[in-house]
Amino acid sequence: MSVVTLARYSIFNSRRIFGYLGRRHLTILGIESSADDTCAAIVDSDGKIHSNVVIKQHDVHEVYGGINPLSAIHSHQSNMPFAVKRALKEANLDLKRDIDGIAFTRGPGMAGCLSVGMDAAKTLAAALEKPLVGVHHMQAHALTVMLTERGNEPKFPFLTLLISGGHTLLLLAKSVNEFKLLATTNDESIGRSFDKVSKLLKLKWTNLGPGDALEKFVAETDDSAESTVTPITRPLPGQLAFSYSAHHSQTKALIESHGGVEGMDIATKRAIAREFQTAAVGHLEEKLVLGLNWCRKRDIHVRDVVVSGGVASNSYLRERLRRSLDKYNSDESFRLFFPPPYLCTDNAAMIAWASTYRFSKGDTDDYSVGLLSKWDLKDLNAYKT
Ligand code: KG4
Ligand code: ZN
Repeated sequence: MSVVTLARYSIFNSRRIFGYLGRRHLTILGIESSADDTCAAIVDSDGKIHSNVVIKQHDVHEVYGGINPLSAIHSHQSNMPFAVKRALKEANLDLKRDIDGIAFTRGPGMAGCLSVGMDAAKTLAAALEKPLVGVHHMQAHALTVMLTERGNEPKFPFLTLLISGGHTLLLLAKSVNEFKLLATTNDESIGRSFDKVSKLLKLKWTNLGPGDALEKFVAETDDSAESTVTPITRPLPGQLAFSYSAHHSQTKALIESHGGVEGMDIATKRAIAREFQTAAVGHLEEKLVLGLNWCRKRDIHVRDVVVSGGVASNSYLRERLRRSLDKYNSDESFRLFFPPPYLCTDNAAMIAWASTYRFSKGDTDDYSVGLLSKWDLKDLNAYKT
């Protein structure tokens, strides 16, 4: 073996090979299974989404009125092979030949669910000798707009509201991997409270789930104007913290004060749903303004606001936050970014995309990497393998 061949051989047979990926165009297979969607997608480092497969489990969970953990694990186990197979087929790419790396959601999320995606990713990566990256689910939600708004990306530092079934976070994003937490929920997440109120009102789920069902129910007609209900009082005024149990329990009390949901006239039902949605979004709006004030006091020049996570697909919320930023007392206007709704809810395109920042630096995980069902964004870089 010549010296050149030997050198090449040792490079290509060590983990350092992955460092070399950074110099070229990368095509990544992403896998996501942190909650109730089984997802696989292929995205490249130029921001092209080659495929984006999301297998929803709503039909499995609707009877339970929320995610049933064991059924979610079983559904991931039966769906994951087909999600990966379809993602490759739709992209018309070959795993061995065309894929440069495999990314998966390492956390946070439901441990049993995460393990299905993680095991699939690790096994494929090890068998095919592909580099591997475990991604933080909320970092991926925050960076989705860097994929969808290429050429017009938000500029760091920006404020981001990450609103999903598991989280309600207001963060200052300083770079792709540095996030300062400004506010989180003291109890329930905004998504969970949409889900629970939707269940209390006995709304039929849409194919996008209970939160979407509540939004659609409110938007159907304006008959709720005929019925007035007691307004929900906003919890934690002036504090950089959220409480969505407060919204949920007040809505429950409101339903009871009208004699329960059975037999309730539709206008009252809609008025209650509308009151909940208005108060829930008002709470976000207030904290966003507090976050902007927080930055201003510290001379942190923020011009861009990013809102992502499943609840960010709500169009009433989108309009309301836009109006609120327009009213914010400032010399300059703010840009407000939302991913398109299909990339607000869980998907693997965001996982593949978020991983490109690490793959491009040759910063990959060992095949023995473990999941982190609880994983604080401030510890993003703390559990390297
Ligand atoms: O980000 P995501 O898909 O999963 C988690 O990481 O949790 O968010 C799911 C949450 C659920 O609570 C769902 O009901 C809520 O997002 N959601 C909505 C809407 N679409 C989804 N909430 C309010 N309005 C919507 N249109
Ligand atoms: Zn999510």
